[in-house]
Amino acid sequence: MKKLTAEDAETRSPDVVAENVEQLKTIFPEAFIEEKVDFEVLKQLLGGVVEEREEKYGLNWHGKRRARQLALTPSTGTLRPCPEESVDWDTTKNLMIEGDNLEVLKLLQKSYSGKVKLIYIDPPYNTGKDFVYPDDFRDNIKNYLELTGQTDGEGRKISSNTEASGRFHTDWLNMMFPRLKLARNLLRDNGVVFVSIDDSESANVKYILDEVFGEENFIDTIAVEMSTTSGPKTVNAQQGTIVKNVEFVHVYRKSQEFDKTPHTPLRDGILYYDTHYSIWLNDDGTLGTLAEKLLADARIEAEIRQHGFMDRETFSINNIDKLLIVSEAAKSFVEANLKKIASVDRPPVSAAGRSVQVGRWEAFEADHRTYYLTTLANGTLRALMPLSLNYRMSDDYKPRFGRTVIRGDLWKGFHQDMGNVAKEGDITFANGKKPIRLIKQLIKWSNSTNDGVILDFFSGSGTTAHAVMQLNAEDSGNRRFIMVQLPEPLDPSNSDQKATADFCDEIGKPRHIAEVTKERLRRAGKKIHDESPMFAGDLGFRVFKLASSNIRAWEPNRDDLPTTLHDSIEHLKTDRTEQDILFELLLKLGLDLTIPIEQKTIAGKAVHNIGAGTLLVCLAEKIASAEVEPLALGIAAWHKELAPAGETTVVFRDGAFADDVAKTNLTAILQQHGLENVRSL
Ligand SMILES: C[S@@+](CC[C@H](N)C(=O)[O-])C[C@H]1O[C@@H](n2cnc3c(N)ncnc32)[C@H](O)[C@@H]1O
Repeated sequence: MKKLTAEDAETRSPDVVAENVEQLKTIFPEAFIEEKVDFEVLKQLLGGVVEEREEKYGLNWHGKRRARQLALTPSTGTLRPCPEESVDWDTTKNLMIEGDNLEVLKLLQKSYSGKVKLIYIDPPYNTGKDFVYPDDFRDNIKNYLELTGQTDGEGRKISSNTEASGRFHTDWLNMMFPRLKLARNLLRDNGVVFVSIDDSESANVKYILDEVFGEENFIDTIAVEMSTTSGPKTVNAQQGTIVKNVEFVHVYRKSQEFDKTPHTPLRDGILYYDTHYSIWLNDDGTLGTLAEKLLADARIEAEIRQHGFMDRETFSINNIDKLLIVSEAAKSFVEANLKKIASVDRPPVSAAGRSVQVGRWEAFEADHRTYYLTTLANGTLRALMPLSLNYRMSDDYKPRFGRTVIRGDLWKGFHQDMGNVAKEGDITFANGKKPIRLIKQLIKWSNSTNDGVILDFFSGSGTTAHAVMQLNAEDSGNRRFIMVQLPEPLDPSNSDQKATADFCDEIGKPRHIAEVTKERLRRAGKKIHDESPMFAGDLGFRVFKLASSNIRAWEPNRDDLPTTLHDSIEHLKTDRTEQDILFELLLKLGLDLTIPIEQKTIAGKAVHNIGAGTLLVCLAEKIASAEVEPLALGIAAWHKELAPAGETTVVFRDGAFADDVAKTNLTAILQQHGLENVRSL
């Protein structure tokens, strides 16, 4: 029976360096001499792509090497389950994790590597007022517990990163760099990441995104109109200041695989009729005009005359906007004939060489669609674009059915959402809450299959989770979310934090941001359920909290070795529950934190079946010698019944056995029944 210890590679969050070395070894075995890399050989094998110049291209800052190293150091923490703070614990597939995201991302590496479809983050913008998490290279878990006031001491004062600090950008970059590196590992090959930012750090984060994801995977930077030049901004603008109206969303894909999934185009509503749509495709293949057709309808003609829209005894298409306002009949006529009304556009390349008579139209099938072609009086071939292609529901603040345009990277109109954002989610959060619609649209654009894991590791009030639940309710989707949020303390004496701290008091919860996130998720789930009672999708979430590992590390007290040795016999912490240990095992063995767990009593002991027989765990504190055989036989019988597809690991508590003989017996019986992988904790 192999013992799993805190130092054991199998029980730690993955050692990314070791994994990278293994990969390198498989590609360049000749560059390894006695388990060490021979750089000279590696350089030769890489040929001309080695950069040896002293002044290199790229962004550099003090601490970058250390920040890179930080991403590679395994975490010594764990995630403790909190069913009492969760919603639908038994059935939900969503996660809300309270903790510092660097440690949490490390802990998620084994279970979620290559599984996340979409990451959205909205990190602190580093405006001079934000708290920028100060990682501790030596002991980040201790640092975390101290910072968030979870140790016996007073807790350290959390302060904002000010421009006067002398390390303003450096601190922020050191915080962001390792997190982005770890986040990338979690993405699927067809995954995508969105990073919200304003101009304080937009250029810097773009550089590190280029470095982490590769310049070739940059998709675009979306400019989102978050405010208009109104109110106090008008005065500044009138005095000649260029006031800020936009924020940015940098978009990167994990790899080219992303482009193989179809994306959903987004549409902006247009208030005015585009008068280029003036051609009518008659059924007999001839071309007419929309104006003629409107006049041919007696009711519409009467309204045109009544309102004086005639122009030299014909209806001018330039008057159509005015007509559509006053005439319901004209509006219905246009909407009923979207496929017959067209504008002139360039023909597709595939139509080169085709000819059509002047004044007529012909359908032409190519590129999996139908084009309508005509020839102009000057002899040039043209495509006729039907109005139906862009007359549909817009993704506007107030979605309307009407004329739309496909959106590019200028996302207008979110200032309207910002006017209402404080009310969204029914919680108070004064720290850069984003509009639900913005995140919904990012998801909608990139995720056409309506499923997959969506991660936000700077969750704030949990807008991303809210958007996921709402979208699922709208399109019967199956998306899941993982939110990570620091229990960042809120100080009521700080004017920026007072409202959010007061909200925590109101709901009777500790004053920190993760409480606001959880409350929003509870309220949002309930509201969606009330509004769409027929929606049977997942509106729950499992809460986990970052903590030190349940397994004691070997930290000998050199002055009192006998006591240390005695204490280390039981190396599971005594203040932790069986459930805590079970979930640590899931993380260490790389299983999903929402995998089904079933419990059965065998020979008087609780045995847990995790993931339909992938893992069978008995954490009984004592297993008497006489209990060994019935327990082992019972577990073997259960295993046979479950018949899991892959290999099963069986885990016991190391200190549970009376002696080594009992332990060996148990292992032998299990092995006789095909359970080779037996471990102790
Ligand atoms: C700008 S807010 C995100 C707002 C969010 N998009 C929303 O709509 O509510 C950034 C959040 O990141 C959190 N944060 C900062 N450092 C963190 C860390 N190391 N781990 C986890 N969360 C962190 C902050 O507490 C803050 O709530």
